[in-house]
Amino acid sequence: MTKTPASLLLAAVLAAFALSTSAQQSAAPAAAAAPAATPAAPGATGLTVPPPPPAAGTPGPAAATPSVTAPAAVAAPANFKADAGLGGTRYAAVCAACHGADGNSGTPANPKLAQQHPEYLVKQLQEFKDGTRASPIMKAFAAQLSDADMKNISYWLASQKAKPGFAKDKQLVSLGEKIYRGGIQERQLPACAGCHSPNGAGIPAQYPRLSGQHADYTASQLVAFRDGIRQNSPQMSQIAQKMNDREIRAVADYIAGLR
Ligand code: HEC
Ligand code: HEC
Repeated sequence: MTKTPASLLLAAVLAAFALSTSAQQSAAPAAAAAPAATPAAPGATGLTVPPPPPAAGTPGPAAATPSVTAPAAVAAPANFKADAGLGGTRYAAVCAACHGADGNSGTPANPKLAQQHPEYLVKQLQEFKDGTRASPIMKAFAAQLSDADMKNISYWLASQKAKPGFAKDKQLVSLGEKIYRGGIQERQLPACAGCHSPNGAGIPAQYPRLSGQHADYTASQLVAFRDGIRQNSPQMSQIAQKMNDREIRAVADYIAGLR
């Protein structure tokens, strides 16, 4: 990647964000991801992100009681290295029913997980387990996983190929594209592309892949960030608080078709 001034600026901005959220980050897995190789996006602004006001921890929508059939978690040895093979077996037994056999969930409320950065997945699973990210459904499943299970499954998921999705709403999608690529200047809403990359592939390890995700899931997460239901990312809470429902639907629809 050629280092243009813009890309250096982006790198500096990202480094600052990484620092500001490092307290939340858990230890990086042994197999570290490759450094970001993402072109600077237009409109990425130097947004400063103070922690959001403490919001009432409303639990997510009522969940069907999941069946708890998985074997008990086993502690990982100190020199643990992710075993994606084991992870795939565990995933097939417990997770595939909701997230799809290859991580490409066919159900709009259940996120696609294929090709997601493993560090992001591990962070989510740990936070479901300890309650930092509220989800009655996922708390029950994450509670059965050891740190080793989380890494094994996450590295297996990262090795699966994401299937592309598509945008559905022709009217909204151009508003969504505008927000994703350029943000909304008047409200200091930064371009999503600045952190999630222009094609939605994300930036390892911190910034998740978004492209092809179900619009319903993406919109529900943005609303959850905005309304204080999902409290595991002060950055995303502050960003979502700048968007109204229509803008959230528009950007979620655009992301579904992004590739
Ligand atoms: C009963 C259905 C169900 C099962 C089984 C299930 N999940 Fe989930 N999962 C969900 C739903 C619904 C969400 C969205 C939660 C929310 O609203 O925040 C989710 C979210 C997630 C996320 C967050 C994804 C993201 O993009 O942030 C991860 C990671 C995840 N699940 C992994 C797993 C793993 C690993 C298993 C198996 C151990 C599993 N899930 C089993 C329904 C399920
Ligand atoms: C300053 C960097 C930054 C910007 C700009 C940004 N995001 Fe994010 N976003 C993040 C980080 C970091 C996470 C991961 C949060 C976590 O660890 O749970 C995230 C997570 C998300 C998620 C949750 C993904 C999932 O699978 O659950 C969605 C959806 C999302 N962002 C959408 C957007 C949209 C839409 C925009 C533009 C309006 C945007 N983001 C702009 C940093 C950013």
